[in-house]
Amino acid sequence: MAARRAARNMGLRLVQVLLVAVVARAPAAHAWRKEGHYMVCKIAESFLTSEASAAVTRLLPGWAGGELAATCSWADDERRRYPWSGALHFADTPGDCQFFYDRDCHNTKGEKDMCVVGGINNYTAALMNTSAPLVDPTVSLMFLAHFVGDIHQPLHCGNTVDFGGNTIIVHWYNATTTNLHRVWDLDIIEKAMKDFYNDDLSIMTHVIMQNITEAWSEDEREWEACSSRAKTCADK
Ligand SMILES: *[C@@H]1O[C@H](CO)[C@@H](O)[C@H](O)[C@H]1NC(C)=O
Ligand SMILES: *[C@@H]1O[C@H](CO)[C@@H](O)[C@H](O)[C@H]1NC(C)=O
Ligand SMILES: *[C@@H]1O[C@H](CO)[C@@H](O)[C@H](O)[C@H]1NC(C)=O
Ligand SMILES: *[C@@H]1O[C@H](CO)[C@@H](O)[C@H](O)[C@H]1NC(C)=O
Repeated sequence: MAARRAARNMGLRLVQVLLVAVVARAPAAHAWRKEGHYMVCKIAESFLTSEASAAVTRLLPGWAGGELAATCSWADDERRRYPWSGALHFADTPGDCQFFYDRDCHNTKGEKDMCVVGGINNYTAALMNTSAPLVDPTVSLMFLAHFVGDIHQPLHCGNTVDFGGNTIIVHWYNATTTNLHRVWDLDIIEKAMKDFYNDDLSIMTHVIMQNITEAWSEDEREWEACSSRAKTCADK
C-alpha cells in the first residue's frame, strides 16, 4: 500500500516537474539525450516525499548508487535488448493536433498500446500491482521514469508524417545543420547550458529546480486552468 501510494506520488511529481523541464537527445531518433533524462529525474527526485523516496531507493539497482537519475537513460541504453520498446518512447499522431488513444497508440505493426502513453500506463500499473508483479519492479520504475521524461518533449508527441520532426532539416544558429526533433532533444539544452549556466549541468538543474518552487510556482495554476485544446496556454 505504501509502495503503491509512493509510486503514485512519484508519478504525479514527475509529471509536475517535467512540465517545466526542457531537455535533450539520445542515440536513436526518438529519445532525449542522457543529460536531459538525468536532469529531469534529478529534479523530480528532489520533490519526492520521504515515503516515495524510500520506495524508489528500495527499487533502485545497485549500480545506480542510490540515485534515480542515474537510471533514467537505461531505457535508451537497453533498446537493442528490448527492440519492442522503441515505440514506447513517443506518441505521434496524423497531424490533426488531437490524440485518440485507440487510433494513435500503436507501433508500426499496428500493435495496440505500443506508444508512450501505453508504456506509462503499463509500467504504472505494474508498479502499483504489489501482489504479484509480472515485471521486475526495478525495470518498471526505470521505464516509467524514462517515459515520463520523453512524453514531455513536444516532438515526442509530434506528427507521424515527419517522424516527430526528425525529417525536418533546420539550421541551428546559422551554423550546424540539424533537425527539428534534435533541436528540442539536444540543441536547445546545450545552448542554454553554455549561454546561461557556465556549461554546467548541475547549475542548470539547480536553477530550474529553484524556479519551479519560486519564479514559476504560480504558472502551474495557469496551466491547470488552460481550457484550450487547440493551442498551448504556456506563453512564457
Ligand atoms: C508492458 O510491459 C511488458 C513487460 O515489460 C512488455 O512486454 C509489454 O510490451 C509492455 N507493453 C506496453 C504497452 O508498454
Ligand atoms: C496484478 O498482477 C497479476 C499477475 O501477476 C494479474 O493477474 C493481476 O490482474 C494484476 N492486477 C492488477 C490490478 O493489475
Ligand atoms: C545568421 O545569418 C544572417 C545572414 O547571413 C546574419 O545576419 C545573422 O547575424 C546570423 N546569425 C547568427 C546568430 O550568426
Ligand atoms: C530562474 O531563476 C533565476 C534565478 O535563480 C532567474 O535569474 C531567472 O530569471 C529565472 N527564470 C525564469 C524564467 O523565471
